[in-house]
Amino acid sequence: MSQDKPPLDPHPLSEYVAWAGNRNREPLLGVLKEKLPKDPGNVLELASGSGMHINYFAPHFEHLHFQPSDKDEAVFDNIKKLSTDHQNDNIADPVHLDLTDPDTWFNAGNFQSFAAIFCINIFQVAPISIADGMMKCAAHLLSDDGFLLIYGPFQVEGAFTTDSNKAFHETLSSAGVSEWGLKDVADLKKAAANHGLELKEQINMPANNFSLIFGRK
Ligand SMILES: C[S@@+](CC[C@H](N)C(=O)[O-])C[C@H]1O[C@@H](n2cnc3c(N)ncnc32)[C@H](O)[C@@H]1O
Repeated sequence: MSQDKPPLDPHPLSEYVAWAGNRNREPLLGVLKEKLPKDPGNVLELASGSGMHINYFAPHFEHLHFQPSDKDEAVFDNIKKLSTDHQNDNIADPVHLDLTDPDTWFNAGNFQSFAAIFCINIFQVAPISIADGMMKCAAHLLSDDGFLLIYGPFQVEGAFTTDSNKAFHETLSSAGVSEWGLKDVADLKKAAANHGLELKEQINMPANNFSLIFGRK
């Protein structure tokens, strides 16, 4: 695959999203190796998109069972194809889970309790209002000592942490889609607090992204 950055396109099956995923999946795998439990358990991905992340991670954790999900069922064939191509038999078929629709939160396969939930690169192209759904959903589905990992670029307490994040925010804002733009970690913390969760760790990741780890208070 070309290393050149394709034009911004948030479609989950776009070249841009694949480019970003190829760049962030190895550093994210490093975080998961540190954080995921060593005992058998279940892991849910929110907004799986193409399925490239869950299919990259799953073979490294054969003791865990992975559940992909997305609000957009049009991506499910791609997720299933990757799982078949990679012979990842610890990945379930994707389920329809829309963070704005509580009726879908209990669709999470046969599992109602997850040791970990992760969600990659959604907030820069989604309204901050989904944070409430994400935190509420996570509070319902996480085991007592489980964690929610949110990855992406964010503002921190009203400020951009780097010039490149500010420039990225300006590019997103100029696209004419009101909900595009870097959201603030402070707003995620507020949403978390409303549902009994708190930010436990803010990990600096390459390319000025963060891994935000939330757990129960
Ligand atoms: C930019 S793509 C990122 C996909 C994938 N996480 C990745 O990093 O390659 C954003 C994804 O969020 C999903 N999404 C957007 N709003 C959602 C919602 N309310 N509930 C669940 N998924 C949602 C979209 O369908 C899309 O697959």
